[in-house]
Amino acid sequence: MENIIEKIAFLKKERNALILAHYYQIPEVQQIADFVGDSFELCKIAKRAQEEVIVLCGVYFMAESVKILSPEKTVLIPNINAGCPMADMIKPEDVRNLRHQYKEAAVVTYINSSAAVKAESDICCTSSNAVEIVNSLPNEEIIFVPDKNLGSYVSRFTNKKFIYFDGYCHVHNNITLQDLERERKLHPNAPVLVHPECRAEVVDHADFVGSTSRILDYATRSEQKEFIIGTEKGILYSLKQNNPDKEFYPLSANLICPNMKKTSLASVLSCLEDEANHVECSEKIIEAAALSLNKMLAVMSQKER
Ligand code: 13P
Ligand code: SF4
Repeated sequence: MENIIEKIAFLKKERNALILAHYYQIPEVQQIADFVGDSFELCKIAKRAQEEVIVLCGVYFMAESVKILSPEKTVLIPNINAGCPMADMIKPEDVRNLRHQYKEAAVVTYINSSAAVKAESDICCTSSNAVEIVNSLPNEEIIFVPDKNLGSYVSRFTNKKFIYFDGYCHVHNNITLQDLERERKLHPNAPVLVHPECRAEVVDHADFVGSTSRILDYATRSEQKEFIIGTEKGILYSLKQNNPDKEFYPLSANLICPNMKKTSLASVLSCLEDEANHVECSEKIIEAAALSLNKMLAVMSQKER
């Protein structure tokens, strides 16, 4: 273990590489990363990074987003088969068909999507900024793809008309109201914190709804001592690191994204050793997808000012 961590640190310097990891990664990978964050944070860090090589420990759409924002950089993903089933549910022609049907609508695409789908969109969003992004648009109609649950959550904060695509994250969509009621009975003093990829009835009965980093922030600032967590189990590592005196209970035993668990220390090392698993995209797609991602970053940087 020590040996592999040392090798990764050595190669990282030698290759001028930055290692980014999502909160759903296994603890060992979060430990060796230069930054751990949610999809929006990883996007921003990658864009600002000075390093020539970015190793993205997460799923493919995350690495692809880094490549779109920094096409001049070498972007590597430790396991090339780490996909996101929700991102794979929608194809560019689905977006074109929806646009054809709803000509006045703006297409808002969740970052959990392929570069080709982003390329067909007006703007991207992440789970932490979707409400701000939708409200920044002049259009009264919004085609929201691919996550119907996130779309329906966002629609609560605006009067705009939403057109949904039937996509969902199997990990979050599997959480049921029965899970929530069972855990509340077991831990009556713990507030329920859930990700907006959960179904509407779960969101309705939660105490807080937010992206992975917002859940982390909420639990860290709260004076309460125990929490029920409705998102992928990987977040428990960062939650516990930030809050060693607090207790966290997963909302269900099945909150595991198998694709997020495909990255190991061995795969990080071998992708650095061999400079393997390059994330590539055609110039045309990169150009069009970058417009949608950069529009999102521009809206958010205006808000942060
Ligand atoms: P975040 O945007 O909260 O990082 O979530 C990403 C994701 O894949 C959720 O399933
Ligand atoms: Fe995709 Fe869901 Fe896994 Fe996130 S948790 S990467 S949305 S399958």
